[in-house]
Parts: sequence; C-alpha cells; structure tokens
Amino acid sequence: MTLIASLPVATESIAQALVEAIGASEELDFPTAATTEQADQSWVVDVYFEDEPDAAVLNALAAGVLGSKAPAFTIAPLPDEDWVAKSLEGLKPVRAGRFLVHGSHDRDKIQPGDIAIEIEAGEAFGTGHHGTTAGCLAEIDRLCSARDFKSILDLGTGTGVLAIAVAKAFGKRVLATDIDPIATRVTEENAALNGVGELIAAATAEGFDDPVFAANAPFDLVIANILAGPLIALAPDVARHLTTDGTVVLSGLLVAQGPAVTAAYEAEGLRLTRSGEMEGWLTLTLER
Ligand SMILES: C[S@@+](CC[C@H](N)C(=O)[O-])C[C@H]1O[C@@H](n2cnc3c(N)ncnc32)[C@H](O)[C@@H]1O
Repeated sequence: MTLIASLPVATESIAQALVEAIGASEELDFPTAATTEQADQSWVVDVYFEDEPDAAVLNALAAGVLGSKAPAFTIAPLPDEDWVAKSLEGLKPVRAGRFLVHGSHDRDKIQPGDIAIEIEAGEAFGTGHHGTTAGCLAEIDRLCSARDFKSILDLGTGTGVLAIAVAKAFGKRVLATDIDPIATRVTEENAALNGVGELIAAATAEGFDDPVFAANAPFDLVIANILAGPLIALAPDVARHLTTDGTVVLSGLLVAQGPAVTAAYEAEGLRLTRSGEMEGWLTLTLER
C-alpha cells in the first residue's frame, strides 16, 4: 500500500528546497516528492512511499530546510481515489511529440497527423497529464522515428499508454509489465480500445525473475517510468536483459535524483545520451 507523508509549508521556494532535499536522500531510498499550491497560496509537500518511512529521517530533512521548529510530517495511506483524481475528466487532452492522449469525450480534438491514444479515466496511472508520461511519450516519438527497435519492454506500464504509443505509431510488439494486476488488466482493455491489442502482451510481474522477461529478452528498448528508488534497484536486471546496442528510457525521477539514477546505469555500462525535464521531472535516455 502506498503511503503519503505530507507537510504544509509557507512558500513555493521552501517547498522546492524540501522536495530537492528529500528526493536526494539515499537513507529514504530517493523517494518521490511533489509540491501543490493551496487555495490560500501556501504549499504542501507530499512524499510517496511503498513502505512505512523512517519518520525521524524525514523530519530531520524538514528541520534542515525549515529550522528546528519545523512541524512533523503526517503519514497516512494514499487514498485509492488519488490516481483517479488525476483522471481525464474535465482535463484537456495532452500533446507530447505527435501523440495526443485524450478521453472519449475529446475525440473531436484529434487533428490530422495526430497519433491519438484514447485513455479513459480509471484505476491505473498514465493519462498523459503527468510530466513523466509526457516526457516518455516525446522521447518515444523521437527515438522510434530515428531507429527500428525490434524488442521492446514497457516496465511499469500503468494504463499501458507508453506501450500503446509504440505499438500504434510504429506497429511494434511490446511487452508491457506491471507489479499491479489492475494495471495489466487496464492495459489490455486500453490496448484493445486503441486497436493494438494484438501487439501488446500485458503481464503482471514483480522483479525480473518472472519467466516472461527471459522469454522476450533481450530488449533493444526498455522504457521504465517508475520511481528513482526502484529504477536504481532494477539497473543490473535491466542491463542484463538489454541487447549490446540497447537503449533505456527512464522517468519517474525528480531533477535532484538524476545523478544517482544515472550513476546506477553507468555502473552497468550504459552512457547518458539525453536528459529532458518536464514540470520538475526528468526523462533520461541511456545507451550501451
Ligand atoms: C508512474 S506509473 C507509470 C505508468 C505509465 N507507464 C506512464 O508512463 O504513465 C508507474 C507504474 O509502475 C508500476 N511499478 C512500480 N514499481 C514497479 C516494478 N518494480 N516493476 C514493475 N512495475 C512497477 C506501478 O504499479 C505503476 O503502474
């Protein structure tokens, strides 16, 4: 179950400083943190954890930014409806590269030349509105237009949006995996809705021990929009399943987390060839 640690702060610059400090914390395993402006123009810092975080470490980081009188973070389970709140309802379609990610209510927004991906509001992450998804979509368009990838893995597929983008724009088969069985079911539904059901194999898998990886490896393109901590932990496995000329696109990390994630993949023999920022989130491209 995902936990969310929250702390209200006075200004955007304090919120940003705290996010930078927390996101770069090795002790907390480089957690993902985000800032939100409140109606009264104050800010809230939210930090996401898969397991109970060390509150003392978290509060010490807050004290480092806010001073010794800093209030403590409140830690609570992330409500299920949080991802749904990021749904397309009432939101505009998102453009990234040639892709237009839209809900069924916005089919009339598709322009000639758009590669339209229809994603309905639902239970999985990936409507295109998040900077990480949009960053990956733009990079997929750039990379796949330039090179003919043959074996592609979308690790942490969520709604399947990135796998659908590759399949729809480039006619490629994609293995789309997620640790969450709801995400893989949603991916199958979305792949069928977008007419690429036969090109996408969705599988629920944790770690790389699942036989589905060995059966489809080596991959010449791995796309993983997860979080900094898991991306670092998965670096040796990703590299082991990559072709000798393979490419990796990583997202889900904050700017401050870029050096640690890059170092983990450089240690596996990859080199950073591109780094793009969108709304404070990085998308890294690394090649062998
Ligand atoms: C930020 S969402 C990205 C969804 C989609 N790919 C996108 O770009 O919008 C991350 C997804 O990765 C999944 N995930 C987290 N850790 C994972 C792991 N170790 N292996 C596979 N999937 C993982 C989560 O369940 C979630 O669906």
